[in-house]
Amino acid sequence: MAEPRRAPHPRNQLNELNGEEWLYFTKSVWTTAYPSELGHARRRAHGANKPPRLMARLIEFFTKPDELVLDPFAGVGGTLLGAAICHGPRRALGFELSARWAEVYAEVAAEASAAAGAGRALADLGSQDPGGPRTFDATGCELRVGDARELLRDLPDASVDFVATDPPYNVQLPMTMSGGALAEAFANRRTDYAMVTDDPADLANLANYPAFLDAMTEILAELRRVLRPGRYAALIVRDAYQDGRYLFTGADLAARAATVGLVPKGDVIWYQAGTRLRPYGYPNVFVPNITHQHLLILRRDPERRPRAGSTGARRGAGGAGAGESGRPAPSS
Ligand SMILES: C[S@@+](CC[C@H](N)C(=O)[O-])C[C@H]1O[C@@H](n2cnc3c(N)ncnc32)[C@H](O)[C@@H]1O
Repeated sequence: MAEPRRAPHPRNQLNELNGEEWLYFTKSVWTTAYPSELGHARRRAHGANKPPRLMARLIEFFTKPDELVLDPFAGVGGTLLGAAICHGPRRALGFELSARWAEVYAEVAAEASAAAGAGRALADLGSQDPGGPRTFDATGCELRVGDARELLRDLPDASVDFVATDPPYNVQLPMTMSGGALAEAFANRRTDYAMVTDDPADLANLANYPAFLDAMTEILAELRRVLRPGRYAALIVRDAYQDGRYLFTGADLAARAATVGLVPKGDVIWYQAGTRLRPYGYPNVFVPNITHQHLLILRRDPERRPRAGSTGARRGAGGAGAGESGRPAPSS
């Protein structure tokens, strides 16, 4: 007979995980292999769609049931679907520039709700997704179409419990390495999906990489404003190879986040084992096939009340957060 699940620590204010589950989550390399589910055949038209189970894992660590998750670059809704399949569904608000992707999300969510109503749960994947089978409840999820920079302004300060998002990773450059004779020879490896819109408000259409970093810095400042003090943001970021050099996009965005008060707390490497390999530099030079993404964990540190008799001058906004002074669990 299976052992009963251990209870969470009584002082755990962040999530509903027990000690073993908490520890497992903190590994800095993740590999995932999830089945095609929750309308994946439709969602894959968006080349950067994220697995709902991956998002659920993040959401279950950084929130409790019914708390509010925000995804300002929601695409076809990986984060919202993740919130809907959490053990104890969370509320989720997504922003997405393209109405096309919002429609895909709406269709997939309606289908999954009908299946859940008919008693069809998501399969138990064992150790690939601990916690047994999952149900689907998207009643607390909403996707708004528009420019995240404008929609964020409508959100009150400190109104969000967790941000989970993957922004456009960079500005879009014309195809170079993947064109030409090799691309003809390896035509079966070309992709047929779309990620970038023609909309000038699409961050991927900015003039260059510095402009992209500047726009992201403004958005990160807004994300800090809307997050409750002590709460987290997980930013999924892919490094890039452009103009003949490697761009450390993950590190660059983590540094920008720190300048606006979202303190970098961790960098989980998400290894995507199924990534297609392309012969970019072959047979002359080394060009990487980037098969990993960064899950940057950022935190709006708790606001500290100055101690009696203290000027408060020794610890600024970027000081160490609660729970990091030797005690095991962070509290907000
Ligand atoms: C990497 S994708 C996110 C994919 C998503 N996680 C999913 O599971 O489908 C980034 C998304 O940001 C959207 N986007 C780009 N600029 C935007 C803006 N200014 N406001 C809102 N969304 C934007 C793009 O249309 C794209 O769908």
